[in-house]
Amino acid sequence: MAKPRTKTIYACTECGGQSPKWQGQCPGCGAWNTLVESLAATAPTRFDSVAGARSAITKLSSVEARATQRIPTGLEEFDRVLGGGLVPGGVILLGGDPGIGKSTLLLQAGAALGAAHRTLYVTGEESAEQIALRAQRLALVNAPIELLAEVQLEAIIAAIGAAAPEIVVIDSIQTIYTEALASAPGSVAQVRECAAQLTRLAKQRGVVVLFVGHVTKEGAIAGPRVLEHIVDTVLYFEGDTHSSFRLVRAIKNRFGAANELGVFAMTERGLKGVANPSALFLSQHAEGVPGSAVVATLEGSRPLLVEVQALVDPVQGAAPRRLAVGLDPQRLALLLAVLHRHGGVDTAGFDVFVNAVGGVRILEPAADLAVMLAVCSSLKNKALPAKSLIFGEVGLAGEIRPVQRGQERLREATKLGFRTALIPSLNKPKQAIDGMSIVAVDRIDQALEFLRQ
Ligand code: TYD
Ligand code: MG
Repeated sequence: MAKPRTKTIYACTECGGQSPKWQGQCPGCGAWNTLVESLAATAPTRFDSVAGARSAITKLSSVEARATQRIPTGLEEFDRVLGGGLVPGGVILLGGDPGIGKSTLLLQAGAALGAAHRTLYVTGEESAEQIALRAQRLALVNAPIELLAEVQLEAIIAAIGAAAPEIVVIDSIQTIYTEALASAPGSVAQVRECAAQLTRLAKQRGVVVLFVGHVTKEGAIAGPRVLEHIVDTVLYFEGDTHSSFRLVRAIKNRFGAANELGVFAMTERGLKGVANPSALFLSQHAEGVPGSAVVATLEGSRPLLVEVQALVDPVQGAAPRRLAVGLDPQRLALLLAVLHRHGGVDTAGFDVFVNAVGGVRILEPAADLAVMLAVCSSLKNKALPAKSLIFGEVGLAGEIRPVQRGQERLREATKLGFRTALIPSLNKPKQAIDGMSIVAVDRIDQALEFLRQ
């Protein structure tokens, strides 16, 4: 790589302390391995405002709040997670495992956007020919999108300056490097500096920039996490590469609701939005099976019915194992402790595995009660009543707490043919719901009765 032209320093990612050369330990806070190469703060960059120009101070009351103009991407589910579309000057990070569909989604969106807004797709990972192959597969060969195969930041910025696109896709940020730093492409220093410069450019020119970021094995280190605070919107792909469903979740969104979910199916011809996803994450058992419980989660604006499965088996190793896929493992340990103390069910001699079907990640505590009953159901090898729905948060004192928007969850389940629901008393609807019998509970011991029905 070329010799660095600009002055670089080493800054600590923990305390911000600086050192002129690399050291294993930060001289400021004593943390290990936290110094990364950065540009010295005084180094001017090409599109900085004139040094010393004074910025005007205004009163908040005198600033007119204008509704931001959204640019719809043409993909309804993508617009949903974005909060209605792209916002000029907005910077978006799309993260996810390799092969999950990031390039596919952005090529599809770019092709639709290109018709009305000049769109530049910068590819650092694949050649232009490879992108053309993907476009052929997606039947988008004639899409009005421009390509740039380039990995050097300065060249990309120059190209954006010359072509003046409204939308720029950077696929991926880990392949881009600036000559100003000696670190290798993909390192924390390069990823941060390149993203920061492109973000500044986006804000100054009102260009929408979409970064693709791979979640690397080291996740938190050189992965997209280091960019989360720089960008306006952080979207992550979830889902199992083995199933065809893909979820895109907004983790952070300055222009819309966080936690909103977009649901897609990966088909032969790219990603297709799934407008009515509530039944996707149920396995098709005709009768109830031991260890399975269905919860209605409400992450984002739509209720989603998800099957939670548990397997409780006599301990195999020296210590009992607890494993949670798609659910919080810490929360599982907590629930097992509450179950022991307040429900009198002891799992100390058992390995406990729980899984949310279909690669979904359930973040809200509304799933607590379903997890607990799935565990008891597997332990006792007794199925829960067929077509039953369970939701409720479990407290450390053994109480069952209400969840928000209970009515909506119940209504969605009724639509899908659920006939019984075990829910917190405070979520009990005032009027009976046709075809749904409600079992309302306040405490764990009452909830465990449900398994004896
Ligand atoms: P890709 O967008 O290249 O993933 P990423 O950019 O996140 O690494 O998508 C990769 C997978 O999607 C690949 O395994 C092939 C599959 N795929 C389809 O099933 N149908 C399609 O139409 C396309 C374009 C890809
Ligand atoms: Mg890709």
